[in-house]
Amino acid sequence: MNQTLPRRPLGNCGFDVSVLGFGTVKLGRDQGVKYPNSFRIPDDAEAASIIALARDLGINLIDTAPAYGNSEERLGKLLKGQREDWIICSKAGEEFVDGQSSHDFSPQHLRRSVERSLRRLKTDYIDIVLLHSDGQDQKIVDEGALETLARLKEEGLLRAIGMSSKTVEGGLAAAAVSDCMMVTYNLNEQDERAVIDYCHENGKGILLKKVLASGHITVSEQATEKKSALQQSMDFVFAHPGVSSAIIGTINPKHLRENVEAAIKALESV
Ligand SMILES: NC(=O)c1ccc[n+]([C@@H]2O[C@H](COP(=O)([O-])OP(=O)(O)OC[C@H]3O[C@@H](n4cnc5c(N)ncnc54)[C@H](OP(=O)(O)O)[C@@H]3O)[C@@H](O)[C@H]2O)c1
Repeated sequence: MNQTLPRRPLGNCGFDVSVLGFGTVKLGRDQGVKYPNSFRIPDDAEAASIIALARDLGINLIDTAPAYGNSEERLGKLLKGQREDWIICSKAGEEFVDGQSSHDFSPQHLRRSVERSLRRLKTDYIDIVLLHSDGQDQKIVDEGALETLARLKEEGLLRAIGMSSKTVEGGLAAAAVSDCMMVTYNLNEQDERAVIDYCHENGKGILLKKVLASGHITVSEQATEKKSALQQSMDFVFAHPGVSSAIIGTINPKHLRENVEAAIKALESV
């Protein structure tokens, strides 16, 4: 592959992200996930190898969360000596313990969670922290959780804040007081497009999750004769100019290469 993956400004956050990000659920968690196929969590050598490949392919954005099992702790070790190479996105507000999710958006919990993420990731700042919504986006905004993140940003611990949201109304309310948002957007699920439109018009970054519907799109292979389901997915998401980066989770190097090729091709045709 000769071309490099383009980078885009993350809204007005002041830094650029590669148009594909690297999702790390599968580096840390295999319980309570909705992937179509079972999988084995990669060992340290395999995880280091796929992260190195991602970096070589031009990816600079890596997405983790306290709720992704031991993903943050693993990244703390795996990214040692590479801090400057990565834009790290983590989350706060969701915990996943003994196979159970729970949520807490109180100021005390959010502060403790961010401080713990800093320790686990072995860094003194995190580029992006998003509230890990349980679906009650509006309530989370009304309770002032983004104000807590804004204080942590003022203290220099975070560079950008926002929410990984699940609704249109609450997502729009969160976007108004955020630097960037993470939303679901793919061939099958487009309800949150209004949040992307808003962010595009208002200088806010947009990170996409579940671009392949957690792998269900490629497994069902809704391919036309000429285009793979993967290429259709990339063409679809990059047709929206507001998309800063599509975060895709993969532990398969072949898939990672294919994703980069498909993203470059999609961007060439818009
Ligand atoms: N904030 C939130 O609430 C939230 C929720 C969900 C996800 N996320 C973030 O977004 C990331 C992506 O979401 P996701 O993992 O749910 O969904 P996704 O990126 O839509 O799909 C990932 C699945 O697709 C498969 N895949 C990837 N590339 C492929 C290819 N070229 N061909 C065939 N299959 C392919 C992967 O399997 P292989 O490993 O076999 O390639 C994996 O099972 C996560 O890792 C996480 O960082 C955030």
